[in-house]
Amino acid sequence: MRRRLIAGNWKMNGVRDSLTELDPIVAECETFTSEVLICPPATLLPLMANRLSGSGVMVGAQDCHPNPAGTHTGDLSAPMLADAGASHVILGHSERRTQHGETDSLVNAKASATARAGLVPIICVGETRGEREAGIALDIVAGQVRNSVPAEPDPEALIVAYEPVWAIGTGLVPSLSDIAEMHAHIRSLLRKEIGESGGHRIRILYGGSVNAGNAHEILSVANVDGGLVGGASLKARDFLPIIRQSEAG
Ligand code: 13P
Repeated sequence: MRRRLIAGNWKMNGVRDSLTELDPIVAECETFTSEVLICPPATLLPLMANRLSGSGVMVGAQDCHPNPAGTHTGDLSAPMLADAGASHVILGHSERRTQHGETDSLVNAKASATARAGLVPIICVGETRGEREAGIALDIVAGQVRNSVPAEPDPEALIVAYEPVWAIGTGLVPSLSDIAEMHAHIRSLLRKEIGESGGHRIRILYGGSVNAGNAHEILSVANVDGGLVGGASLKARDFLPIIRQSEAG
């Protein structure tokens, strides 16, 4: 009922030459039943949108400003990202929360702005290693979900991504039972906050050291509706096998 989404987050990687990585994905994408999304740096958005046009593979951004326009040097608004060809915007990634001091309320405002521009926000949440070791991971993530997800969202047009900070780029992955526990926790929170039916329809992605070797088992966990992939999304030879794992059931 919830269609799987495999999303690649290129972070601050990629130049025009990197767009050749899309070609093997486009060549195979007709066979995909999962949705596939790639979020390049903003410099590549229109070029990537152009290259993927008609393929069904979608293009997303990695951040946006909460205002539609104005005196915000260096920032990009959600309507601009829509104009550049984006369909989704990653928001509140832990790298933005830590490196740019983003708070839940700012992420919430950005998510509302993204939805107003007709784009799908992908709201990232996740605990640090210290928070997990202190036994407060569920509470931390609950707070982030409550405060970062806008009130009364369109459940079909909002995605939550659980990315434990300590699993990002480290090769470390939580146990499948820890992933199951956290995703069930987020699901029940969404049901409580948004309502039974809406909370059921929102997709929850897992992110953090997903690769071709672990994607199948992670994607089989209840309430894991797809993956948000960093390093392994940069090369088609790494990303395509993850998409294929998603197709494998
Ligand atoms: P890695 O897949 O490189 O761990 O990154 C995950 C991530 O941060 C995706 O947003």
